[in-house]
Amino acid sequence: MMSFLQVQDLAKRYGGTTVFERVNFTMERGEFVCIIGHSGCGKTTILNILAGLDRATEGAVVMDNREVAGPSLERGVVFQGHALMPWLSAMNNIAFAVRSRWPDWNRIQVQTHCQKFIDLVGLTGAEHKKPAMLSGGMKQRVGIARAFAIQPKMLLLDEPFGALDALTRGTIQDELLRICEATNQTVFMITHDVDEAILLADRILLMSNGPGACLAEAVINPLAKPRDRHSIHHDAQYYGVRNHIVDFLVNRSKRYQSGELRSARSPSAKIVNLR
Ligand SMILES: Nc1ncnc2c1ncn2[C@@H]1O[C@H](COP(=O)(O)OP(=O)(O)OP(=O)(O)O)[C@@H](O)[C@H]1O
Ligand SMILES: [Mg+2]
Repeated sequence: MMSFLQVQDLAKRYGGTTVFERVNFTMERGEFVCIIGHSGCGKTTILNILAGLDRATEGAVVMDNREVAGPSLERGVVFQGHALMPWLSAMNNIAFAVRSRWPDWNRIQVQTHCQKFIDLVGLTGAEHKKPAMLSGGMKQRVGIARAFAIQPKMLLLDEPFGALDALTRGTIQDELLRICEATNQTVFMITHDVDEAILLADRILLMSNGPGACLAEAVINPLAKPRDRHSIHHDAQYYGVRNHIVDFLVNRSKRYQSGELRSARSPSAKIVNLR
C-alpha cells in the first residue's frame, strides 16, 4: 500500500543557495503532522509545494496516487498571511471557494454551509464585513473557515493560529481536533508553538536551520489520544517530549546544519520514539 502523501527528495534552490534539500516523508490518511523549525528554514516553501502553489527545484509530491502539479480544491490552505479577496465580504470569501467546490449547489445550500463554518470560528455577526473592516485575528479566522468549508482531502495550515488571542486559539484548536476526529482529516501544519504541536500532532517534524536545511528528526507524539488542552501537561510523558523539541530548537538544529549530528548523505529524518 502506498502512503496517502509521499514527499520524495524535495530540494529548493535559488541560484547557488540551497534553502533545503533531501526532504523526504510520507503521511497516512487521517494523520496530523506538524513541522517546526527556525524562521527562514523553508517551512512555508514546503507547504506551498505540497499545495501546488510553488515548484520544487528537485523531487516530487504524490497525493492519493497523483502527482501534485498545481493548486486544487482537494487541498485547503490557510496562509501565514490571510490571503482574502479584499472586495468580498467574509461570507463571500468563503462562498467563492464553496461554489467552486460544489458548483451545482443552490444559493441556500451555499449560504447554510458557509454560515456553519462562520459560526464555528466565532465570526457570527461579521458575515457581511469586508476584510478591511476586520481585525488581523478575524481575517485569519475567515481564512480558517474557508479552508475547513471546502472539506479538502488534505488541510495545509501555515501558522494558522499565530494571530489569535489565547481564548480563540484554544476554541479553534479544539474544533480542529473535533473535525479531524469526526472526518479523519489529514493535516499538515506549520507552527512555532511547541505546546500546540504536542496537543494536535501525531508526528512532529523538526527542520534544521537554513540555508541547506533538512528534515532532521521525526518525533512520534508519545501522548495518547484524545488529548485535552487543559490536562495534557499532567501526562507523565509531556515534559519529556516538550524538552526534546525545545532542545532541538536551542541546540541540535544548528548541529544538524553543520553536519555534526548526522551523515551529510542521510536521506531521511531520524525517527524519535520517546514512548
Ligand atoms: N525568491 C527568492 N529568492 C531567494 N531566496 C528566497 C526567495 N523566496 C524565499 N527565499 C528564501 O527561502 C527561505 C525559506 O523561506 P520560507 O518562507 O519557506 O521560510 P519559513 O520557514 O516559512 O520561515 P518563517 O518561519 O519565518 O515563516 C528564506 O530564507 C528566504 O529568504
Ligand atoms: Mg513561513
